[in-house]
Amino acid sequence: MIVKRSLLPFFLLASLLTTAQNNIVINTDLGKEKISRHIYGHFSEHLGRCIYGGYWVGEDSDIPNTNGIRNDVVDALREIGIPNLRWPGGCFADEYHWMDGIGPREERPTMINTHWGGVTEDNSFGTHEFLELCDQLDTEPVICGNLGSGTVREMSQWVEYINSDNISPMTELRKENGREAPWGVKYWGLGNENWGCGGNMTAEYYANEMRRYSTYTKNYGDNRLYRVACGPTGADYHWMETLMKKGYPGRSFQGISLHYYTVSEAKNNRRSATEFDESQYFSSLKNTLFMDELLKNHIRIMDRYDPGNRIGLLVDEWGNWHDVEPGTNPGFLFQQNTLRDAMVAAINLDLFNKYCRRVKMANIAQTVNVLQAMILTKEEQMVKTPSYYIFKMYKVHHDATLLPADVESGTYTVEGKSIPAISTSASKAEDGKIHITLSNLNPNKGQQVSCELRGMEKAQFEKGTILTAEKINSYNDFGKEEAVTPAAFDAVETKGNTLQVDLPAKSIVMLEIR
Ligand code: AHR
Repeated sequence: MIVKRSLLPFFLLASLLTTAQNNIVINTDLGKEKISRHIYGHFSEHLGRCIYGGYWVGEDSDIPNTNGIRNDVVDALREIGIPNLRWPGGCFADEYHWMDGIGPREERPTMINTHWGGVTEDNSFGTHEFLELCDQLDTEPVICGNLGSGTVREMSQWVEYINSDNISPMTELRKENGREAPWGVKYWGLGNENWGCGGNMTAEYYANEMRRYSTYTKNYGDNRLYRVACGPTGADYHWMETLMKKGYPGRSFQGISLHYYTVSEAKNNRRSATEFDESQYFSSLKNTLFMDELLKNHIRIMDRYDPGNRIGLLVDEWGNWHDVEPGTNPGFLFQQNTLRDAMVAAINLDLFNKYCRRVKMANIAQTVNVLQAMILTKEEQMVKTPSYYIFKMYKVHHDATLLPADVESGTYTVEGKSIPAISTSASKAEDGKIHITLSNLNPNKGQQVSCELRGMEKAQFEKGTILTAEKINSYNDFGKEEAVTPAAFDAVETKGNTLQVDLPAKSIVMLEIR
């Protein structure tokens, strides 16, 4: 409960200032759901400088690389442990013809990337290069097939090329191209945004098409495909209902996607990534919190048709969508990344954790140089963004058990609108350690948080990390010292099983408890 300070006598106000404004109860003995590490997944499309320049520089580049792939980017991503990588799109997926991207590079045909800047795609980065990248990153590939403009045969042969060990034309072709053993790719998308850039289909039409394409994506050897149907954008509940009702869930698809991007309110027609005021910051957080309602409502529909919880909800595109940086190609979606982006990442990840019973994967868009990226590159230089550091701090939740939390949060109010001041999630790792991620959304005021670890007699604070910065729009830039970088955090007092945390304004912390 939040008491209005103006109504309190002075002595009571004084005592209130020393008591917690926010109360959290973490039920350490009630955890039963696992937070899939795949919630911490990524997405990389043939878009702008994500693939070309971001990962792929080619073997002859002066930029240090292994088989054409930048070493610095791979090393940085390995540090945050990315569990999966979705490719080749996005909208690009439904105009991509995979056979153009195999064989000797100098013989590969070109195409026009009609969605993203109309640039010529030379297909030098194709199936083999992508799967090599996944090997270097030690991550699981998620491949999105072309249902919008490709054929059933084309998709079926792609799966065969990648996964078959039989004697077959596609297996032979793969071997001729230098890869003996099948890769055994599990995650397979049946089109992308087919309600829009992937063919402008109705839900009913897509449900039929998806069932047909799915029929011919086969399992080879021991590998079992996890097929992902194209799901709704935002609050399109009709799409979800139709797919769950008519799409043969469980038979035709094992997971269904959801796309939702955070877009802030515009000021003077602009949504700059770096030049924004507090009301735009607030609108970004408020619009991100809409993800809570979206997940709740879509899950309610899924529960109706799939009470056994067999089908996963995969939020395979999410993140901030700002204006491109001034002077850059509008089709390349290159944007800077500030403390605001870190906060948006933390809120979303807390929500995916909260709904991990159904949310089995999520992929932030788009890893390098596009939208809410982990990494920005400029020629040979590389920058780690504030969002990168959130993924690093949240690594502790990968495959841990979600601990249900009851949160009584104060509010953060701007121009008469309010949102909760606190976002949190807690999990228990296999070794028994408990990790709590805790954010203070308010950029002007620190928060006191009382956090009871119910079910434990005594909590021992082991260590903490904080991400904050001087301003909400602080960011890391090329050739400069990092303005947003994690630091040790120890503003925690322990009494029995309760922690008192002094959470600075606009900060995200990770606490480790034993
Ligand atoms: O991530 C950029 C684009 O956003 C993707 O290509 C598309 O799926 C979505 O609309």
